[in-house]
Formats: sequence, structure tokens, C-alpha cells
Amino acid sequence: MCGIIGIISHNNVQHMLVQALKTMEYRGYDSAGICMLEDAASGLKNVKEKGKLQHLQQALKQQPLTGNLGIGHTRWATHGKPEVRNAHPHQTATLAIVHNGIIENHQALRTELQQTGANFLSDTDSEVIPWLWQQQRTQFSNEKEAFLHTLNTLKGAYAIAGLQAHDPDKLWFARRGSPLLLARGSSGVFVASDALAVAGEADEVMYLQEGEWGWTTLEDTYVFDVQGKSVALKWQAMPHMVSATDKGDYAHYMLKEIHEQPRVYRDILHAYTDVSGSVHFPQADFIHNDTLPKRIIMVACGTSYHAALTARYWLERYLKVPVEVDVASEFRYRDPVIGDHTWLITLSQSGETADTLEALRLFKRRTPHNKTLAFCNVPHSSLVRESDGLIELYAGPEIGVASTKAYTAQLMALALFSLQLAQQNQALDTKEVQQHIQALQYAADHVDVLLQESHQFDMLTQIFSHAHGALFLGRGPCYPLALEGALKLKEISYLHAEGYAAGEMKHGPIALVDKNLPVVVLALRQYHLDKVISNLHEVQARGAKIILITDLPKSECPQDVDAIVNIPEGDFFSAPLIASIPLQFLSYNVARSKGTDVDQPRNLAKSVTVE
Ligand code: M6R
Repeated sequence: MCGIIGIISHNNVQHMLVQALKTMEYRGYDSAGICMLEDAASGLKNVKEKGKLQHLQQALKQQPLTGNLGIGHTRWATHGKPEVRNAHPHQTATLAIVHNGIIENHQALRTELQQTGANFLSDTDSEVIPWLWQQQRTQFSNEKEAFLHTLNTLKGAYAIAGLQAHDPDKLWFARRGSPLLLARGSSGVFVASDALAVAGEADEVMYLQEGEWGWTTLEDTYVFDVQGKSVALKWQAMPHMVSATDKGDYAHYMLKEIHEQPRVYRDILHAYTDVSGSVHFPQADFIHNDTLPKRIIMVACGTSYHAALTARYWLERYLKVPVEVDVASEFRYRDPVIGDHTWLITLSQSGETADTLEALRLFKRRTPHNKTLAFCNVPHSSLVRESDGLIELYAGPEIGVASTKAYTAQLMALALFSLQLAQQNQALDTKEVQQHIQALQYAADHVDVLLQESHQFDMLTQIFSHAHGALFLGRGPCYPLALEGALKLKEISYLHAEGYAAGEMKHGPIALVDKNLPVVVLALRQYHLDKVISNLHEVQARGAKIILITDLPKSECPQDVDAIVNIPEGDFFSAPLIASIPLQFLSYNVARSKGTDVDQPRNLAKSVTVE
């Protein structure tokens, strides 16, 4: 959600602001804007545009700004439609801010501030911040006190960067509930939502902790805690970051990322297994050293939640302990019973998902003695910094909003994790673990072949030309895969789709079946094949169009289905890694046929940093 950047530099910051926003456009693309200050006499200059960043870039060509201090924002709307007047930065005559988060008491503050003369121009919650800050400036001669009071009056979550019109040498910042970091390099000092935004510019970084705030000049940085006490500065070397590469010859990032999956599978296997076939997680020693847990709780959102659901089948079979999987937004508010000897596993591509982070914090508050482990693609993210251990996903930057390679990376890492615990629990011996690892290696080869033959998925698209929705069915680990297939289709083609446990289909959704409802059936030999085929016949008998994704040879497939996608056979762990591929192509191809924006679908953002 919303990317924010603030820069103070020796040079004009316009180009750097726009470049930083470009790397954070995945956080939201409803509108974008920058505000710059040249000197105390010139006043604040603000340019904002609705829609993607390219519109702002066009506007800045017509109307370039000058100044060595500036803030910028790319928006994912929470309050107020995506319009120019709701775009950030928001300003008064004397100061301007950009904000990521939600100000929960904005309505009450707005009413109060209006009574004292505030003139609101937007429908956003964020616009109360500059008016409140301006009001506090009139009440406190000390500007530190004024900013602290402003922050303490706000309820909710925020990452803020701000500047004051009279002071071109000072960049203000604050963090509570939304990610924010400071960075510095030869060109200046930065405040940003994401280290990627300053990857080419900064040599050192400092991740702000909850409640921290302060200001920076080019020479000095001051950070305070919620009480206003000084906090020691903890600059650290900027982590090596693979900057987002371009799309190459691919039409979309999503397509490129689909094609990267065999590389990702191999990188994960290389990172966590050795030639003898043993599994080791160097950034999560407790897995190897502690006694096994009596219970595992897995918490995540969206696609990451689906990956967790798959792992439950793997872990429960071999570890023989209860594995509970919950969406983070439910877990954090349902007063969960946790108990001792429990590990919390969080899964997140970004490591900044607000609900997942809060679920982790709740777990740690309730049972600080229990261990927490993050499966995450961003090793310097908030989730990782706050967890006891990390299993890094090595997927590389994922730009397409619809997750593909990060999802299968999660599956691969979870499969290795399950195998390691199975071995520690003596449910599998070394030889058996080696065989499963080999099957995971074969999965990379199988996916290579599927990608080379991806034209076979083209025929599926026309089945969706008159569809009013779609149903995805599977059993066992293919059930969460069905959920994921449906989510992918919804996200990028805007077609209503449901994933269902095939055995549940008779309990309701079968009523939806007609000739314009394609039903995607995932029938793999590993997971209750006969029962899934019976479910297929039940929907087929009611006139549904059937797309069968199966590892059965053609000769053994049921007849008269509308399309068959044959995939190579995997084992208990590797099968979902192979079966994900046709689902990804299905959603990609349908989206293309509908002409939607594949990489930046409407209403979505890559990183959901508000609850
Ligand atoms: O970064 P996270 O994995 O925590 O994100 C969770 C979800 O927001 C994410 O998986 C979302 O569902 C994707 N758009 C799926 O394609």
C-alpha cells in the first residue's frame, strides 16, 4: 500500500523522487505526486496526477520542479476515490506530508480542525496530518514538541515524511504500524517505505522501530522514541538488493516471473540441501537444535495463506502434531489459544503485510518463549526482523501483483522444511528424504518442459469466452491449489472464481453449474484421484465445461471433457509445484484475452501494509 519517499540532497531531487516512486509503484498506482522546496522564500511546489506514475512523469515534463528537499507518494486509495485532489502530498500553506497507513480518528480531528480554520480539499484521512501539524506549530514554539504532539494525537497506523516551507534543510519522518526506513549515501539522506526505493543511492540504512520519529538534515539525523527521548542511531550497511530487472522479451512481468520458476526451485534446493541430500536452514538454527514443537500455527494472507494450507498436509502426515492455518486478519482478532511448545510460522512474499505482522506481534506478546519462523522473500523486511528465524525464498523481486514465483518458492521451501522435520521426527529416513528431494529436483525439470510447451494452455482461453465465473476443484493439497487457481483468475481477469474442496461441491456450489461455468478439476495420482474423478463426473453430468488438469496418461482420462492438460507426475511433495503452472497460464491467458492490466490489476497493490 502507498509508497512514500523523502529526500534531502546536494542536488535537485525531482529525478530521484520519481525514480524511487517507480520502484515502489507496486505499492499502489491510483495516483502519484511530489512536493519540493527550493528555499524558504519560494514556497511549497506540489505536482500530483491521477493514475499511474507515468502521468506524473508527463506532468513534470511540462512543469519541472526545482529544490534539494522533496517528498513523494504513490497511492493505493483507502479513504477517498483515486482523484487528483485525494493524491498525496497533502499540504497547508506552511507544510506538506506524505502518509502510508490509516488515521483512525481522522473524522473527529477533521471536525475539530475545521472549527479552527482548516480548509480540507480531499476526502482522505491523511489530510488531517498537515492541518494538525500546522495547528500544533502555532501552539508549541518548539518544533520538536509540535511534531511529537501531532503524532501523539493521531490514532491508527502511519509512516510519514514531511517538510516545512520555512526550512529547506530539514526532512521530518515518523513510523507507527507502517514500514519506514532512513538511508544515506553520497547524494543525500532518504526516508522511504522500502529499501528498494533507494537501492542505487544509499550505502547505509536504518530501519525505524515502532513509534520512532525525528528529522534529518544533510549532516545530522535525530531519532526519538514515543516519549521524545533520543534513540541511538543504528546505521547498517545497505543490504545487497537485486533491483527489479526489466521485462526483457516478455509481454508482462507476470509471464517473466512464471518462466523464472525452474531457476527459483533450483536456487532454493541449492541453498538448503547438500549433495548428501540433507536439509539445513542456516538462518533458523532453532529448527535443528530445539525439540520439535507440539503444535504449529501458520498465519498468512492471500496466496501465502494458500501455500500454508498445502504445507499442513505435508506436516501433519509426518510430524503428527496439529497444524493450524489461519488468515492473519482473523488470527489477530480472534483471541487465539496458543499454549506452550508451539511454533508460529508466518509466510509472506513482501514481509510487510500489516495483518501478518500484527499476527506475529500478538503471538510474541502472548507467548514470548515460543519460537517464530518467517518464510519470506525479502530478507530485510519487518516480518523477518521481528522473527526468530528465516527461511528465505530466493525468488528475486516479484513485480507482477499476482504472485506466481513467490508462491511456488514458498511451496518448495515448505516442502524442504516438512522433510527436515519428518526426518527429525524419524517419520522418514535419510534415504526417503533423499528420494523426495530428488522428486523436487525433477519438478524443476518438469516445469522447464511445461514452459517450453506452454502453447498447449492457449486452447483453454476460448472455454472462458462466455463464462460467468469459474469453479476450481481439488482434494488434499490440490484443494489449496484450487483456491489459488481461483484467486489468480479473479485477480487479473476480474472473473468471479471459486476454489472448492471437490468433496464439498455437492454441498452447495453444484447449484451454480451450467454450460457457461467452466470447472477446472485438479486430478493428481497422489491425492485421492478416484474420488476427484467421481466429482468430475457429477459436474459433467450437469452440463459444466470441464478442464481436467491431470498426471494421468491421456488413455486413462475420462472421455468427453472439454479440455485435458497433461502434466508430469510428481510425488507427495512435488506434485503441487508442477500443477501450479497450468493454473498460472490459465489466468494469464484469460486476462490477456479480456484485455485487463495483467501486472497492475485494478484495485490491488503488491504489498498490503494497511489492515
Ligand atoms: O506479501 P504477502 O505474501 O504477505 O502478500 C499476501 C497477499 O496480499 C498476496 O499473496 C496477494 O494475495 C497476491 N496479490 C496474490 O497474488
